[in-house]
Amino acid sequence: MQGDLDKILISPEAISKRLDSLAKEMGAILPHHDVVLMPVLTGGLVFAADLMRRLPNRLTVTCVGASSYAGARTTSSGEVRLDGLEAARAAVRGKHVVVVDDILDTGRTLGALRDALGASGALSVKTCVLLRKDRLEAQAFPVNFVAFDIPDEFVVGYGLDFNGLYRNLPAICTLTPEAIAKGMAESKA
Ligand code: PRP
Repeated sequence: MQGDLDKILISPEAISKRLDSLAKEMGAILPHHDVVLMPVLTGGLVFAADLMRRLPNRLTVTCVGASSYAGARTTSSGEVRLDGLEAARAAVRGKHVVVVDDILDTGRTLGALRDALGASGALSVKTCVLLRKDRLEAQAFPVNFVAFDIPDEFVVGYGLDFNGLYRNLPAICTLTPEAIAKGMAESKA
């Protein structure tokens, strides 16, 4: 697996340091009570787990599932499928919700969630991402909290996958062109 990795884009130490400052920023802005942290599965799992342990606010956690990439394909077309939406909508009624995801790429996923939760009686809906790509749609999407801006490259690790793999890497890494090509071919097979 390590042979598929090209370079470390963000080290575990840099992630940890940035999460410390992000949590301070968020803790000061978010209300102290009635906060629901909503990790977006599966990619947002690792980030949300590390972030929530740094937040001083009185909060509950409700996960929601979202999938828009099938294998290696991108979200440039197609719908976002949301799982557990009814439970999520019920959990945020009368609460301040913070949706926590791993990456902002086209904005379709966060857009779909923000729309779905906004009409559910939430007092406020905020969004938080670990990574925001340097591409037009991502930069134009209004997001409340961003840990890192990154180049428009394919990245894995710290929750992010390629064909389901690499989520367990402690760093955020790029893949070699060969690994990407191989994964693309496998996902189409
Ligand atoms: C990925 C990622 C984000 C979304 C970002 O999810 O985790 O949720 O795509 O892309 P967007 O801004 O273009 O919507 P994916 O559907 O791959 O599922 P996963 O979280 O299980 O990896």
